[in-house]
Amino acid sequence: MTIPQIDLTAQYGELKREIDAATARVYASGWYILGQEVAAFEEEFADYCNAAGCVGVNSGTDALLLALRACEIGPGDEVITVAHTAVATAAAIRLAGATPVFADIDPATYTLDPAGLEAAITPRTKAVIPVHLYGQPADMNPILAISRVRELRVIEDCAQAHGAAYQRRPVGNLGDLACFSFYPTKNLGAMGDGGAVVGSDPELMARVRMLREYGWTPQARYVSQIDGLNSRLDELQAAILRVKLDHLDRWNARRRYIAIHYTNRLTPLAEEGLITLPYTVPDNVHVYHLYVVRVPNRDHVRQTLADAGIGTGIHYPVPIHQQPAYRDAYPGLHLPETERAAGEILSLPLHPHLSPGDADRVIDALEAALA
Ligand SMILES: Cc1ncc(COP(=O)(O)O)c(C=O)c1O
Repeated sequence: MTIPQIDLTAQYGELKREIDAATARVYASGWYILGQEVAAFEEEFADYCNAAGCVGVNSGTDALLLALRACEIGPGDEVITVAHTAVATAAAIRLAGATPVFADIDPATYTLDPAGLEAAITPRTKAVIPVHLYGQPADMNPILAISRVRELRVIEDCAQAHGAAYQRRPVGNLGDLACFSFYPTKNLGAMGDGGAVVGSDPELMARVRMLREYGWTPQARYVSQIDGLNSRLDELQAAILRVKLDHLDRWNARRRYIAIHYTNRLTPLAEEGLITLPYTVPDNVHVYHLYVVRVPNRDHVRQTLADAGIGTGIHYPVPIHQQPAYRDAYPGLHLPETERAAGEILSLPLHPHLSPGDADRVIDALEAALA
């Protein structure tokens, strides 16, 4: 039997009755876009993130775009982020008309290196987007301190970190605004596209809400007050997300349990220097969206695992500044830690429904591949 890197059918299998009831409720309601389900989900998810508000949108990419636009970031502005992330982070900056500026990562956590952030600031820098990659928060205290001094907006990219915490504070309310993706594979995933902007600044949140629907206000539909777009979350996705939100903490705990099991059994190989295991900063809650190891002969190891029926992933194989759509804009940019990571990282199978037996099979195969 093959072990896939992620298995969404098992998730539906567990919650079939609840999800089917929730979607049937929406079908019967006759109201399919921005209704009671979206309003209820927004309230529940804001509470979950310990924030005052949440605006459901079409995707994580749109969440970032709307957050940037709500902060009035656009042409001529620079936004600092990492090149070791989903391309969506940089794409949203470009969609806003601004310029992504890439800083290097901390090699232990794969998140924005605060020293790199400081070095990348110019008079045109307006914002920073730290990405809580793989489920572990970026090092927010120094990032926030630098940003405060330089008057930069801080927009968290929480697409991989639903339920994570930085020094015991949940992500999603650490900066000015926070952006989530509900792409089906995420820790909290819809059954289609979805996203959300979360935050506690009433003015910014009101702007996000207007931007999501053509710049209208709740008081005056059909009259655009600002230049908005259509990025609405639909009722079906919101109803499904409400069901899944109730299980998120338990699923995250299960992810952590599997991650600890991997780490315990792989530590002897790590001590021999054959593999580098994920590092969790003390006091952080890592929600293990992905369990990412490093191996020097990555492509060989990946192929050996594939031959043994084990699916793996590479998140991400090509740093953004080296991708065809970007590289001409970044001649000579060298990000040593980002580039080294891209050549060595490997995401092992990890999802809340992975059985201990399957986790052991992954470990056995990995031991054999590294032998
Ligand atoms: C770190 C990160 N940022 C942003 C996004 C964009 O989310 P979406 O695919 O919902 O647009 C993703 C997911 O693909 C992501 O992993």
